[in-house]
Amino acid sequence: MSDALYSPSLEGVVVGQTAISDVDGAQGRLSYRGVAIDELAKWPYLDVALLVITGKRAPAAQIEAWNTWMLGHCQLSPRERSWLELLPPSLHTMEVLQSAAPALAAQVLQPPAGIEADPDLLRGLFIAAKLPAFLAAKYRQDQKLVLVEQQEGSSLNERFLFLLHGSLPTAEQVRALDTVQILQLEHSYNAGTFAGRVCASTNAPIASSISASIGTLFGNLHGGADEAVMGMAKRIGRLDNVKPYIDQLLGEKGKVMGMGHREYKRLDPRAAILKPMAEALCHDAAARDNFELLKEIERYSRERFLKKGKDIWANLEFYKGAVFEALGIAPAYYTGVFACSRVFGYVAHFMEFRPVRKLIRPRAQYRPQ
Ligand code: COA
Repeated sequence: MSDALYSPSLEGVVVGQTAISDVDGAQGRLSYRGVAIDELAKWPYLDVALLVITGKRAPAAQIEAWNTWMLGHCQLSPRERSWLELLPPSLHTMEVLQSAAPALAAQVLQPPAGIEADPDLLRGLFIAAKLPAFLAAKYRQDQKLVLVEQQEGSSLNERFLFLLHGSLPTAEQVRALDTVQILQLEHSYNAGTFAGRVCASTNAPIASSISASIGTLFGNLHGGADEAVMGMAKRIGRLDNVKPYIDQLLGEKGKVMGMGHREYKRLDPRAAILKPMAEALCHDAAARDNFELLKEIERYSRERFLKKGKDIWANLEFYKGAVFEALGIAPAYYTGVFACSRVFGYVAHFMEFRPVRKLIRPRAQYRPQ
């Protein structure tokens, strides 16, 4: 065993191949299926989701058929509502979503009329349609609000915002959410996707694989950093508190949430799109103050990192909260919104991996104490 390759955290280890997305960390570039993220950020959301899963842009009629099908499932049945009510209210949204995926595995599904769909793909898209409905219902349950019964909204993200707030969002808000969801839809062998592939490698079904991925996304070194950034910003509170807070945090070897990335050694290309978008959306004084605070945290952290010779940049999570605040989404639900889009990436990886899957089972060095 002593001569075997050992890399704690698998850093630098290539564990598989994929044609789904390309994360070029050295150049700070990202593409899905060969299309650059800057271009994809302008596409309709479902077009990107289906491109990521199938590898090609679907014809408009097919996208419309899937959109109608998904909207038809983006609501909770009486049984699903009762299930949600039985869960302890103290569960985090991510724990609810992680549990929901396999709980949805039993339902018999019919594909959209005229489309022949692979059963795993159908199950995956069904879960992707249900997650926003669970997330909105969990929010309303936590806020002691009546669940929204009507089914308004003509796209998944418009429907989600309607189910969340009980009123239709503006076109600007839907476009903003579409863009964030496109940016975070897929990211190669990130920890959550890798966990899903490990699960799939045992021949477990797609719902279990998605559940494993969502559980992994929850942690604050991964997707959970979005919620943690806003927690940090709230604790800092004022511009003149940024320096003492960051100095103390770094002095105690803490992590500045939303900064740094395993792959990107330059600015995360998703953060480059998100930052100006957040600025444009921060209309009122409170939102602007919050944005200015984030900018100062980023500026001062980078200054501190550079003094130590570390070129650490903001990642996708850093400015997401500024956008979500403008959309009326509370921090405890940020990572849940992330899961609603990343699930399409999980489905894509399950489908890609299925024909070639082989048990993923690394070795460990035995080190008696
Ligand atoms: N705050 C403070 N220090 C950081 C940092 C951050 N956000 N990100 C990296 N570093 C430092 C580490 O302390 C380490 O310093 P050292 O070499 O002196 O020990 C060095 O940079 C390398 O970081 P490390 O955590 O080992 O790199 P990694 O590739 O394992 O980590 C992350 C990548 C994302 C886990 C890490 O940057 C991080 O924890 N970021 C904050 C959480 C976050 O935003 N996650 C979302 C990622 S999309």
